Amino acid sequence: MSATYEARGDVAVITLNNPPVNGLGYETRLGIVNGLDQALADPAVKAIVVTGAGKAFSGGADIREFGSPKAIAEPNLLSVIAAFEASTKPIVAAVHSVAMGGGLELALGCHYRVAAPGAQIALPEVKIGLIPGAGGTQRLPRVLGVETALNMIVSGEPVKSELLARQPGQKLFDKMAEGDVVDAAIAYAREKADVRPLPLVRDLKIVYPNADAYFQFARNTVGAMSRNFPAPLKCVEAVAASMKMKFDDGMKYERELFMGLMVTPESKALRHVFMAERAASKIADVPADTPLREIAKVAVIGAGTMGGGIAMNFLNAGIPVVMLEMKQEALDKGTGIMRKNYEAQVKKGKLKQDKLDERMGLLSTTLKYDDLKDADLVIEAVFEDMGVKEQVFKTLDEVMKPGAILASNTSTLDLDRIAAFTKRPEDVIGMHFFSPANVMKLLEVVRGRKTAKDVLATVMALGKKIRKTCVVSGVTDGFIGNRMIEQYSRQAGFLLEEGASPEQVDKAMEKFGMAMGPFRMGDLAGNDVGWYIRKRRYVEKPDIRYSKTADLLCELGRFGQKTSAGWYDYVPGKRDAIPSKIVNDMLAKHRADLGITPRKISDDEIVHRLVYALVNEGAKIVDEGIAQRASDIDMVYLTGYGFPLHRGGPMNYADTVGLFNVTQAMKRFAANPHDDAGFWKPAPLLAKLAVEGKSFN
Ligand code: NAI
Repeated sequence: MSATYEARGDVAVITLNNPPVNGLGYETRLGIVNGLDQALADPAVKAIVVTGAGKAFSGGADIREFGSPKAIAEPNLLSVIAAFEASTKPIVAAVHSVAMGGGLELALGCHYRVAAPGAQIALPEVKIGLIPGAGGTQRLPRVLGVETALNMIVSGEPVKSELLARQPGQKLFDKMAEGDVVDAAIAYAREKADVRPLPLVRDLKIVYPNADAYFQFARNTVGAMSRNFPAPLKCVEAVAASMKMKFDDGMKYERELFMGLMVTPESKALRHVFMAERAASKIADVPADTPLREIAKVAVIGAGTMGGGIAMNFLNAGIPVVMLEMKQEALDKGTGIMRKNYEAQVKKGKLKQDKLDERMGLLSTTLKYDDLKDADLVIEAVFEDMGVKEQVFKTLDEVMKPGAILASNTSTLDLDRIAAFTKRPEDVIGMHFFSPANVMKLLEVVRGRKTAKDVLATVMALGKKIRKTCVVSGVTDGFIGNRMIEQYSRQAGFLLEEGASPEQVDKAMEKFGMAMGPFRMGDLAGNDVGWYIRKRRYVEKPDIRYSKTADLLCELGRFGQKTSAGWYDYVPGKRDAIPSKIVNDMLAKHRADLGITPRKISDDEIVHRLVYALVNEGAKIVDEGIAQRASDIDMVYLTGYGFPLHRGGPMNYADTVGLFNVTQAMKRFAANPHDDAGFWKPAPLLAKLAVEGKSFN
């Protein structure tokens, strides 16, 4: 039973005990109800205190039960709260540390609440695309007023208990406890033991003049802010109902909205991402208690685009960094850009000047490898050239202390070959950051064939410390993200050849929700990067078909924003993408050269060819064991490639469409003579799941 019962004189104490956060799983709910029955049956008990063991009152639903029959098995939370409200003896919630979601709803079902300062109070359901489902939207406005309650419910953000306690007229907390909150709650319970009738939150009246105007304002603002997500507006409707409807009707309405949201693709996507985030940090053959290596000092080689951003991550986390370059000018330039970045944050009020000084104070620079030797981790971010990497890693092998982790930020080169330049391949790992490295959340952690488990575990933990979303990738050309994006880009190229314009493709993808379409993205990142990679890649694999349009563009010197010309025209210094006559003429000529008569292509076809290209390649990546699970691929695309959150990542999107439908569409694409029929053969995993009527997740 995940709740304990103890009689402290004439007060019974029910303690939720379901680590880590006393999630309200089936056993816990049962334990609470049994405790209540015992207290009510005992004539010596005059009042009841409910609290949580360890570091929370309760964090809400038990996420381990999500989707299982236990999650809704009786007694469900609504029944537990109903039993509380029917109790003939007063129940006092002793709230400390965390009362979130169902935890807060449970406390609101008690007759009284005593809180410790510093407790995090929240109804975060909106973050997984839902509204509170056990009376939160009906009871919170009754104790905090409509505005505060709505702010909390729409944002899902936690508020400290003492702040709420200071709100004029609040009825959430009857008392704030300075010392032990359970002792204080017991004392309070004794004080109230004989007071009748027992107060219930449901009986409180909400007084709010001008409610209609306020809710109209709330609908407008919330609607504008939550374009792709239905839940925030439903929060507004539910809270509005708390004013307009009788309590029981409001509860029914909340239930209806909750159940409706539960089946939306948006909520499914958010719940998927919630679980995927947690899953990504787990590695099947690396136990969670693997001893970690200590990382007190980091070295970065190369102060270019990536090196500077990478270094900033560690400085931000208070870890000293030493940067090495070939020339002093390169160091000066690199550190100058870092400083500018920080200064921009100070200007925006996001960083204090003394923090800037502190962070830059943790940075040192050098031209000599000897100055790196005491670093615990070194990250190489030099030119993407195997010869240069070879020279760097051979030197590192000579100078770095035993046990130091040697990481490469390479985005396309074979990590196992890089590791083989050293006599310690077990200490070599890939840390593939995304540009700008100080901003982008994604870190692909590349596990080489010989990478030691403790090296992998250490880098995963360190990644978390510098606030990255870490996803493990095996060694393959482009790792997870860029290997997939190649197929996406290839499709985008074919679409141009068949008659689409760059702006049509970009618009379709942006309407789907991508932060940027493929061509605007190319112009931002620099089209020459892909050109360089294609020269290498397609020389190695000459039989792969791809569209030469991007090469033709680069031959015109149109590298993107940096040359004020790419797929679009740019006014120097501005980022607005202006459709280009030169590019459209170039495309028309290229189509004529290929003998293709342009056709009208629908936005649907554009979206599905591009996204299913990601999905099919993603399935191969899972099949080959390069990614541990399909949800890892979703995390890569959500945090590194601007894939829309409300779609939950490409693999989740495919699940939503249905894998059978995905493979049917792929058959149609394969029949297109201008596409690559071979590519559209479904990956074995995808084909198997589609036939079995299953999904990736
Ligand atoms: P970059 O050209 O901006 O910077 C490379 C820096 O390394 C230059 O400052 C250069 O002086 C220095 N360098 C070159 N050889 C060196 C050596 N032997 N010793 C010390 N310093 C040396 O290049 P960028 O874009 O920063 O790329 C670096 C690495 O990061 C590459 O492996 C690239 O594939 C990878 N990468 C790049 C991304 C991007 O978006 N630019 C994204 C993810 C990874």
